[in-house]
Amino acid sequence: MFGIHQKLERNAIGFVIAIIVVSSIGGFMEIAPLFTIHETVEEAPDMRLYTPLEVAGRNIYIREGCYACHSQMIRTLRDDVERYGPYSLAVESKYDHPMLWGSKRTGPDLARVGGKYSDAWHVAHLINPRDVVPESIMPGYRWLAETPLKVDDLSLHLAAQRKVGVPYTDEMIANAAADAYGQAMPDSPFAAGVTARYGDATNVRAFDGQPDRLTEMDALVAYLQVLGRLTDAPYQQTASTEGAKP
Ligand code: HEC
Repeated sequence: MFGIHQKLERNAIGFVIAIIVVSSIGGFMEIAPLFTIHETVEEAPDMRLYTPLEVAGRNIYIREGCYACHSQMIRTLRDDVERYGPYSLAVESKYDHPMLWGSKRTGPDLARVGGKYSDAWHVAHLINPRDVVPESIMPGYRWLAETPLKVDDLSLHLAAQRKVGVPYTDEMIANAAADAYGQAMPDSPFAAGVTARYGDATNVRAFDGQPDRLTEMDALVAYLQVLGRLTDAPYQQTASTEGAKP
C-alpha cells in the first residue's frame, strides 16, 4: 500500500488522475440525493403565497434577528413532533427566500406557531415578553407597535421574490402597498382585494389592535400567524400516525 502511494506521488499525471477519481466519488455522494429530489419533495397544491403584509413581517423578523433564537423547522424526532406538531415538510419552505430553518433554539421552534395564540397575545408578548411569560428571557420589541410600516417598496420585494421563483402575478406586484393596508384594515376599501388575490383563507384583521394604523407590529404578527398554515399538507400526511390536527 505504502509502495503504491510512493510510486503514484512521483508520477504527476497518475497522481492528478487519482485525485480526480477520489474527489469525484465525494462529489457524486453529495449530488446523488438531488437525482431523486422530485420524489422527495412532496406536492402541496393548496400552498398559499405570503401576502405583501406577511412578506413585510418576514423582513422585520429577519431584520430583528428573531432567527438567532428561533428555528422554523420541526424535526422528525418524536419529542419535536409531540411538542410542536407535525414535522416540517420540504414543500413548506418552497417560497421561503431566504429560508429561516435556523439551527439555534434559545426560544421554541416557530414553524407551527400560526394560530397558536391570539393576535393580542403576540402584541403583548412582543412589547414585553415578561407580561405574558414571567420567566421569559426574550427581548422586548416595543417600537414595532409605534413604527409605521414602510409600504412603498413592497412591490419591489414581491418582484424580487418572483425572480427567485415565487409565482406572484403582475397584479399582485402592482397592488402590494394597497393589499398591505387592506389586510390590516378590514373596514377599508382595500380589504376585498386581498382575499380576491390571495384566497379566502387569508387573515384580514387589525393584527395590532389598531384598525386605523398600519404598523410594523401588524406585519410581524400577520407573518407569525401564518407560520405553518400556508398548506394543509403536513397535517394530512402525518395525521394518521400522530393524530395531529391544525
Ligand atoms: C434572545 C433570544 C430571543 C430572541 C432574539 C427572540 N426570542 Fe422569541 N422567545 C425566546 C424565548 C426564550 C421564548 C420562550 C419564552 C417566551 O414565550 O417568551 C420565546 C418565545 C417566543 C414566542 C412564543 C412561542 C411559543 O410557541 O410559545 C414567539 C411567537 C416569539 N418568541 C417570537 C419572536 C419574534 C417574532 C422575535 C423577533 C422579533 C423573537 N421571538 C426574538 C427567545 C428569543
